[in-house]
Amino acid sequence: MPRIRGQRLAPSPHPPIPWKVPLMSDKITQKIAPAKGKLGILMPGLGSVSTTFMAGVMAVRKGLGQPIGSLTQLGTIRLGKRTDNRTPKIKEFVPLAGLDQLVFGGWDIFEDNAYEAAVNAAVLDPALLKQVKPQLQKIKPMKAVFDRKYVTRIDGPNVKTNGTLLDKAHALMEDIANFGKVNKCDRMVMIWTGSTEVFHRPSKVHQTIEAFEKGLAKNDPDIAPSQVYAYAAIMSGVPFANGAPNLTHDIPALLALARDKNVPVCGKDFKTGQTYMKTLIAPGLKARMLGCNGWFSTNILGNRDGEVLEDPGSFQSKEQTKLSVLDSILQPALYPELYKDLYHAVRINYYPPRGDSKEGWDNIDIFGWLGYPMQIKIDFLCRDSILAAPLVLDLVLFLDLANRAGMKGIQEWLSFYFKGPMTAPGLYPEHDIFIQLMKLKNTLRWMRGEDLITHLGLEYYD
Ligand SMILES: NC(=O)c1ccc[n+]([C@@H]2O[C@H](COP(=O)([O-])OP(=O)(O)OC[C@H]3O[C@@H](n4cnc5c(N)ncnc54)[C@H](O)[C@@H]3O)[C@@H](O)[C@H]2O)c1
Repeated sequence: MPRIRGQRLAPSPHPPIPWKVPLMSDKITQKIAPAKGKLGILMPGLGSVSTTFMAGVMAVRKGLGQPIGSLTQLGTIRLGKRTDNRTPKIKEFVPLAGLDQLVFGGWDIFEDNAYEAAVNAAVLDPALLKQVKPQLQKIKPMKAVFDRKYVTRIDGPNVKTNGTLLDKAHALMEDIANFGKVNKCDRMVMIWTGSTEVFHRPSKVHQTIEAFEKGLAKNDPDIAPSQVYAYAAIMSGVPFANGAPNLTHDIPALLALARDKNVPVCGKDFKTGQTYMKTLIAPGLKARMLGCNGWFSTNILGNRDGEVLEDPGSFQSKEQTKLSVLDSILQPALYPELYKDLYHAVRINYYPPRGDSKEGWDNIDIFGWLGYPMQIKIDFLCRDSILAAPLVLDLVLFLDLANRAGMKGIQEWLSFYFKGPMTAPGLYPEHDIFIQLMKLKNTLRWMRGEDLITHLGLEYYD
């Protein structure tokens, strides 16, 4: 029976959650179905991230590289007491699909196949791409559901034009079913790797599934294309993740649908680059009770994502997830003397010469003993898609695992991967990457009936 050693549970300060979420003390009722057969990975958006992910998996399969950055492929998990010496690889501990079982597909507004899109993205070396060219070339984008109102900086010919949004949702469901049939998939997972859509708030049409379906039928302008994909995935019983910051399935209608259809979902906005750095440093400052009154972050990037983010509406979606991180890690309401005056600003500048090789600068104004000021400067020369590709791999494998384990609705244990982790209503998101990792690993332990580890060291007093 899984249990937390020595943990005392305090009463929750949060309002009750309107539906039952599994507790760590619950035993999982369903066994985990085996990861047999093919797993189809469906991606709306065949751009830099998705092609780097696919080409990377193909390269790893051929022994041309290592899956660096992927917890599912390289990570281990400690089981039992420290003295037990049980530290299997995660992929040996839980039944994950193997890389050889993955088949890829997707949609894009451009007609380029995945090889052409990868060459265009210019993330991976042409010599490496040539070695996986035959496999990549076979991946041709299906016609996209697209609306320029939601992504204003780009336009392309490969789009579905007939009918209402409901007809388009049904066309996507047909695409999903056909893909599964042609590729003989046992199961599928969908992950949004499309451009960042403009910021919009949930409205009436997003509140219930009835309102949402009516809205689809009458082309409600508040329904974004990413929401049509999410609807089609969930209706098809396909787990869904959102790698971008836009409002997608984080609305009551689609969350209720996910629970009704027993589909696991998660999001949103991959935690890479500058925000990843923030979630490493901010918990460290707070752990030592060091103050912070200014955090200025600026970036240059020159890929298509950077171009889309030049649009103020798309940038606003990104800004929301990037800004939310510090407040919830530093908790100014709990530590006013340290963080109440924190000024936090984030800028993204499109600068074509850099392509996917982003540069992110942070100036952090901190203060210590008696309020004496200090500064930290970070200059992170990173590669956006190289950081994002292993997150896509982990997310699709873990979502498929959750699906086979009968877990439905928001998968908070996958917050580790996101800038704006989705949570059940009434709960605040956890942004501290080390707490997120502990939660992820404890969920895996719980799934396999192992003791949860709190790092309290109380096992010696058992
Ligand atoms: N790379 C990272 O580190 C990172 C981190 C966090 C979030 N993201 C997000 O991931 C997403 C993908 O990033 P990228 O660098 O691959 O961008 P990209 O511009 O290279 O690729 C996005 C692709 O989506 C396509 N697209 C746009 N709308 C579509 C629609 N409705 N249907 C189908 N295709 C559509 C575009 O044509 C483009 O090919 C972006 O939203 C980005 O903000 C990336």
